[in-house]
Amino acid sequence: MSDPDDLSGDEHSRRSVLKAGAVGAAVATAGGVAPLAFGSSTAAGAEGALSSPVPTAEVTLRVNGRERRVTVESRVTLLDTLRERLGVTGPKKGCDRGECGACTVLVEGRRIKSCMTLAVMEDGREITTVEGLARGDELHPVQAAFIQRDAFQCGFCTSGQIMSAVACIEEGHAGSDAEIREWMSGNLCRCGCYPNIVEAVRDAAKGNKR
Ligand code: FES
Ligand code: FES
Repeated sequence: MSDPDDLSGDEHSRRSVLKAGAVGAAVATAGGVAPLAFGSSTAAGAEGALSSPVPTAEVTLRVNGRERRVTVESRVTLLDTLRERLGVTGPKKGCDRGECGACTVLVEGRRIKSCMTLAVMEDGREITTVEGLARGDELHPVQAAFIQRDAFQCGFCTSGQIMSAVACIEEGHAGSDAEIREWMSGNLCRCGCYPNIVEAVRDAAKGNKR
């Protein structure tokens, strides 16, 4: 059996496959099937697009009540802008593709996965992260409920869970455990703290402290 990584002369070696792919791409380009991101019908045009500067824009985000102005490339996500440019590290980068919910923040009170929106799209909007929930030393009821119910282990998902729970309650989607599970299903927890999270959301929704 041949080694798929063997580059020594097998006509089906990885190198030949890669070459075939490159030729295929060039043919498609020459035939007018332009690569989506480049908008050019020539390989030279594609290279030019790759090396051309990415447009930037100045955006103003109101983060946890504070106005923050920052110049960002138009392709930069809200999550990266918060974490890398503004030092707001409560929202976590788990999957970076909209699947885990670790990056959940509120935009104008609505929960959103901040890895799935661009900073330029949120210009002028009010962003609330977990850092903005407590009032001085007084925790938000959802934060307090998560502690009371021991609703975390490693804590990586927790800021996203809490932000999502705040919105879930505000939306009126915390009327039963089943409803909480359904409306919190966009937030994953690798530690499997789901029963405790549901209890915490239920407590916070009822204004209970257990
Ligand atoms: Fe945004 Fe996973 S990091 S959904
Ligand atoms: Fe570890 Fe949720 S507490 S991923």
